[in-house]
Amino acid sequence: MDIEKKLMSCLDCVREKTNFKPLVGLILGSGLGDYGRQIDARAVIEYKDIEGFPVSTVLGHEGRFIFGYVEKVPVVVMQGRVHYYEGYPMSDVVLPARLMGLMGAKALFLTNAAGGANFSFNSGDFMLIRDHISSFVPSPLIGANIESLGTRFPDMSHIYDLELCSAIRQAAAENGIHIKEGTYLQLTGPQFESPAEVRMCRALGGDALGMSTAVEAIAARHMGMRVCGISCISNLAAGMSNQPLTHEEVQETANRVSKQFTELVTKSIVKISGLL
Ligand code: HPA
Repeated sequence: MDIEKKLMSCLDCVREKTNFKPLVGLILGSGLGDYGRQIDARAVIEYKDIEGFPVSTVLGHEGRFIFGYVEKVPVVVMQGRVHYYEGYPMSDVVLPARLMGLMGAKALFLTNAAGGANFSFNSGDFMLIRDHISSFVPSPLIGANIESLGTRFPDMSHIYDLELCSAIRQAAAENGIHIKEGTYLQLTGPQFESPAEVRMCRALGGDALGMSTAVEAIAARHMGMRVCGISCISNLAAGMSNQPLTHEEVQETANRVSKQFTELVTKSIVKISGLL
């Protein structure tokens, strides 16, 4: 189906179930789905109940939208996302982010679990995403431009909104949460990188390596949403420690830091909402 038609039919399907209008869209990364419990929920929609919506196949990724409030801020939260490596076309990978924009979200808050490539990072650190490198994955904007969403050649000078980044920085500082900063580099996965690839990514300026996020940020910027994001450094990237990498380790770290993550995200959302 035509991408725009599919998007609109998914929007209709959501609207049949709820009229909730979110201010912020939040995507929860691997192992971070527990944050869903923080929401004063008003409606829940399983992805599988939205016709045409891509459904995640990854263990540890649930698949639902939660509509409700964080403090007093109306949000829509994605518990589980789909990845390019699952075999979906990139237009499907970013469909949920676009849908949240069409539901009314002015800002997209992206989270993920990522491998740390920067030598000053440790597992369990948080990294404020200041910029990204998406050059290793196809652009989600390839194909006929959806004029109703945005321009053919969108500017990407400030993908991660400077004011929203400041809000996250402040929220972290006020709550005594140390937060690193850097560039997120998206690869296709699903295999973790080789040590040589990690050295390459580091040489190119990547601080955190992962398999999501950048394309969602591009699609959201294309349609004029304001974007921000936090990586949870779940492990040091390959070759930087003598431990083999596993998806279990990624989830374990996310679980270990989930209390701090919850606090950081909640306080950040409250601050961000004042800017929208
Ligand atoms: N590499 C890529 N993606 C990841 C990693 C990693 O080391 N950890 C969690 N997601």
